[in-house]
Amino acid sequence: MENKNPLVEEVIDEILVSEEQIKARVKELGEEISRDYSGREICVLTVLTGSFMFAADIIRALSVPARVMCVFASSYEGTESVGKVDIIKGKGFNVKDKDILIVEDIVDTGRTLQAVSKILLEEGAKSVEVCTFLDKPERRVVELSPKYIGFNIPNKFAVGYGLDYDHRFRQFPFVGVLKPEFYEK
Ligand code: IMP
Ligand code: MG
Repeated sequence: MENKNPLVEEVIDEILVSEEQIKARVKELGEEISRDYSGREICVLTVLTGSFMFAADIIRALSVPARVMCVFASSYEGTESVGKVDIIKGKGFNVKDKDILIVEDIVDTGRTLQAVSKILLEEGAKSVEVCTFLDKPERRVVELSPKYIGFNIPNKFAVGYGLDYDHRFRQFPFVGVLKPEFYEK
C-alpha cells in the first residue's frame, strides 16, 4: 500500500512502523489515556513541529474533554542533537492547575522533554505526563520515562508521520528510514 507513492520508492530504505500499526496503536493509546483521565479534562500540550500529525490523531481518539495548547521546541540540526533546546510558547499558553499531557513525536536524549517539563512545573501545572509516539530508550542522556509510548524503535534516524530530516519527509503516513544518500546530502 505504502509503496504506491513514487516518492516513497525514491527515498525510503526501510519501513519501521507501518500506517496500519500506527492506526491500531493510536486507537489503543486514546482508549488507555481516556480511561486514566476519566472524569477530568486533559490539557494536551503538542510539541511542534514534529508531533503535529500524532497529536491530531491522538486528540481525535480521546473520549474525555481536552484543551489543546502548543509549544515549539527545537534541539536538532540534521541528525545530531546539538544539546541545546529552544522552547517558544504558543499563544494562549496557560498551564496553571491543569492536568498536562505532553504529546511528543519522539524521545531521544530526553533533553527536549526535560526542558518542557521544567517550564510546566515552574508555571504551576497540576500534573504532567508524557505521551510519545516513538521512543529510542538507548539514546537517553537524562532520566525520563514517558507514561504512554506508541512504539520503541532502534537507534536509527526515523522520518515520516511528522518526523523530519531537515524539515523534509514529515508527510509520510508511516515511519521509515531514508536511503543513505539522503542523509549525506
Ligand atoms: P531529544 O531532546 O534528544 O529527546 O530529542 C527530541 C527531538 O529530536 C524530537 O522531538 C525530534 O524532533 C528530534 N529527533 C530525535 N530523534 C529523531 C529521529 O530519529 N528522527 C527525527 N527527529 C528526531
Ligand atoms: Mg520534536
